[in-house]
Amino acid sequence: MMAGIAQHISAKAQTLRDRINRHDRLYYVEARPVISDEEYDALFRELQDLEKRHPELVTPDSPTQRVGGEPAREFTTVPHRLPMLSLANANSEEEIREFDRRVRSLPGSGAPVYTCEMKFDGVSLSLRYEDSVLAAALTRGDGSRGDDITANARTIRSIPLRLPPGLVPGDGCEVRGEVLMTGKDFGAMNDERREAGLKLFVNPRNATAGTLKLQDPKLVAARPLQFFAYTLLTTESADKKGSHGANLSLLKKLGFRVDDHARSCSSIDEIVSHWREWEGRRETLPFDADGIVVKVDSLAMQKRLGAVARNPRWAIACKFRPRSGRTVLEDISLQVGRMGTVTPVARLEPVFLGGTTITRASLYNADYIAKLDIRIGDTVTVERGGDVIPKVTSAVPPSGRKRSKRFRFPKFCPECSEPLVRPEGEVQSYCENNSCPAQIRGRIEHWASRGAMDIAGLGSANVDRLVEEGLLRDVADIYSLAGRRKRLLELDRWGEKSVDNLLGGIDESREKPFRNVLFALGIRHAGAGVAALLVDAYGSIEGLMRASRDELEQIDQVGPRIAESITSFFALAANRSLVDRLRKAGLNLAESAAEKKKNGIFSGRTFVVTGALSGRSRQEVKTLIENLGGRVASAISAKVDVLVAGTDPGSKLGKARALGVEIWDEGTFNSKITTS
Ligand code: IVH
Repeated sequence: MMAGIAQHISAKAQTLRDRINRHDRLYYVEARPVISDEEYDALFRELQDLEKRHPELVTPDSPTQRVGGEPAREFTTVPHRLPMLSLANANSEEEIREFDRRVRSLPGSGAPVYTCEMKFDGVSLSLRYEDSVLAAALTRGDGSRGDDITANARTIRSIPLRLPPGLVPGDGCEVRGEVLMTGKDFGAMNDERREAGLKLFVNPRNATAGTLKLQDPKLVAARPLQFFAYTLLTTESADKKGSHGANLSLLKKLGFRVDDHARSCSSIDEIVSHWREWEGRRETLPFDADGIVVKVDSLAMQKRLGAVARNPRWAIACKFRPRSGRTVLEDISLQVGRMGTVTPVARLEPVFLGGTTITRASLYNADYIAKLDIRIGDTVTVERGGDVIPKVTSAVPPSGRKRSKRFRFPKFCPECSEPLVRPEGEVQSYCENNSCPAQIRGRIEHWASRGAMDIAGLGSANVDRLVEEGLLRDVADIYSLAGRRKRLLELDRWGEKSVDNLLGGIDESREKPFRNVLFALGIRHAGAGVAALLVDAYGSIEGLMRASRDELEQIDQVGPRIAESITSFFALAANRSLVDRLRKAGLNLAESAAEKKKNGIFSGRTFVVTGALSGRSRQEVKTLIENLGGRVASAISAKVDVLVAGTDPGSKLGKARALGVEIWDEGTFNSKITTS
């Protein structure tokens, strides 16, 4: 009788484990969940309860056991069964063709078929399965021996703890691949760390390496690691007829993620164009890749080609051009922004990085230059990540020449010669002269920019010119240019067509809604998001100009800093008369309720809100999203654009990650509505 119950319960536990494993796989590997988060949570809890009541039923491969055990003091080093080799690099088309020639020179190679995969820029990991159960996970180490980080690897949900039976010949296998973080997950994690005042990671690869070395698996479990498999080693030599391509399919069947971009190529021309294509498109990948890996597809041929030194002769890494490089810092100049912020900019000897020539990079502020001890004439490292402005990240003295003196931050504005001011406790310096030509140009450029008044034909070159000619002194002057057509036509190289284009663009901008006008005014701390909130609250510029600081602070998301900035902007007579002139120019300085909805910053996007929020209730957040033109849904699906996740977000978070939905924590949500 007892045995009967036990058997029944143990069968029940096994069914639950199988179901959860299946849903994990659908969720984390295939990104197509089929049950709701609530249903998944219920299954998980049921298994947890059952295992609590019957601890003897807990198996090491149970999904409840991903995070278990005590933090390790240090990792033990374990020999690899087969060495983990590294790949030889090809940096040019010629080197890729040379690789193909070497492969073909092998007698009997015929016309080789190759598989091309992304070269993941992560951390390699080897997983040993014994009798289908994950037995050990080793880092690459020195290639012969690696660290045993099994407890950490178990927390990665795209690593199966048990493989489905009957698919791999023999009684065990080894799966090698790369652990990485997607750019999106990395960004979200760093945002959270910034909020929490923690140190930021430099890039996804460093974050992954640092995470895998943590001694406490619980901490690892909280980091968004993923595993992509690229090699299957079986104990049996099923390799005679086998191919790498077939192994990739098998890995997929075993429940691993493999590169979706893998492709079979039978000519080297095809490979070269694949490499070129992906070099240009690398930014569109969800993860960092630093090249493509080309592998001979036939396993028998791989074996015959063997390895030299530590590189196999059957594979090669075709590298993408690097996004960081070294060059000489020729000079440091200062850039004055529209608010008077002074930013030092590096003038560089041209360097070709990731497809473009770089001649300038940001140096942020005086402290940054001092901290890295960057001096003119130094050899500097320049980095270009994603879409950000290139930055100088380190400097070394020039060889064979005397190093120049430390950079002294100028005391006067390079544009108007007024003294620069660096307020107590701030890293930035400012030019406080409102009529500084650089600030005038900056304000006009901001006015004309996309997201503000969006005036085609009024880019920075034209703004410079018109300010220099005395035709523009402030943004209201833009609307009197039509009356000065003749003068414009007298300007060098300005024909009828370009003048008409410019005047047409200016005319169209009169139709822009009030929120754009308010944002375009460039009031400090009033980004597009705050402008939208103010328009929602006041509806017209008159109302806003009358508002006191206290009243403004009543608006959700508007604090003392923003309120102060707005009241002091409108307190200045010059700004009030600017508003008058803009009104006379026919600009929209009010917005109706219906217009408000249509123009909202979240218009056209769908949101889901989950977890506990500290600043306001979930319902308040939903109302706010709707007021800003967004749609609110209740469940994660491919149609959802953004998940706003508070603490304890439950399984919606994982589901959103799996589907690549953008994830905002409360801090990010707040910053979107205030600064975007
Ligand atoms: S195959 C003989 N495939 O590149 C090595 N490696 O220098 C067989 N890597 O340590 C490795 N993406 O960490 C292979 N699709 C891919 C890869 C890949 C990244 C890494 C791997 C290895 C290094 C080789």
